[in-house]
Amino acid sequence: MNKTLTMPQQMTDSANIVGIKETINSMIDDLIVSLPNPVELTSDERRGIIARYTAVLEGNFIYWMTAAYISVQAEEARMIILENLHEEVRDAHPAMLRRFTIAANAFPTDVDALAVDESLTKVRLFLGGLSGVQSVVMMALFEGFILKFMEYLTDLAIARGSVEREYTDVHGVCDIEHTEGLFIALAAEMEVNPIDSEKDLFEGAHLLCALIKSIVFNRTLSSAV
Ligand SMILES: [Fe+2]
Repeated sequence: MNKTLTMPQQMTDSANIVGIKETINSMIDDLIVSLPNPVELTSDERRGIIARYTAVLEGNFIYWMTAAYISVQAEEARMIILENLHEEVRDAHPAMLRRFTIAANAFPTDVDALAVDESLTKVRLFLGGLSGVQSVVMMALFEGFILKFMEYLTDLAIARGSVEREYTDVHGVCDIEHTEGLFIALAAEMEVNPIDSEKDLFEGAHLLCALIKSIVFNRTLSSAV
């Protein structure tokens, strides 16, 4: 895979990517520092976070990465995203996540799924716009967040008495390469299919942040601060 990862040469694009990466990283860091201390949560609150995370991730991650794939036009971006999808499907990451969640006795109920429904729907509708650059920016935030969230998710599961770690172990490692790959895909896509000037580059990233807050704090968009 690495042989395909070559940055475009234009200095302006490189500078743009550095700035976008800094913004995404800062959005992720804001989410991570806002996480409630697992020790101070009740067992049911810990279950709820794992359950809502699963309600979002299990059925949507591959769907959303596929949306990014069909939205991009740059061949290099397509190849990078396809490699990511290949790994997700080949190694059955949704099955891995389901094992993790069941072991923590936190399988999502209808209440968990509906708690994130409003913000989840907004992300789905946004991706339906098939905007290559915006979709890749959103998925870069998703991969980067998942990477940094794994330690926290592990702590929640341990506190629920689980010893199942394959999902969190795998995603604490493979998502480093996935996140970097998506920024290279972004650079390629910006060169071939730049975003319209009136569009917000971070529209999907902001919607995804709102969804992650729904997962963590069990609040709908209408009640979010
Ligand atoms: Fe995965």
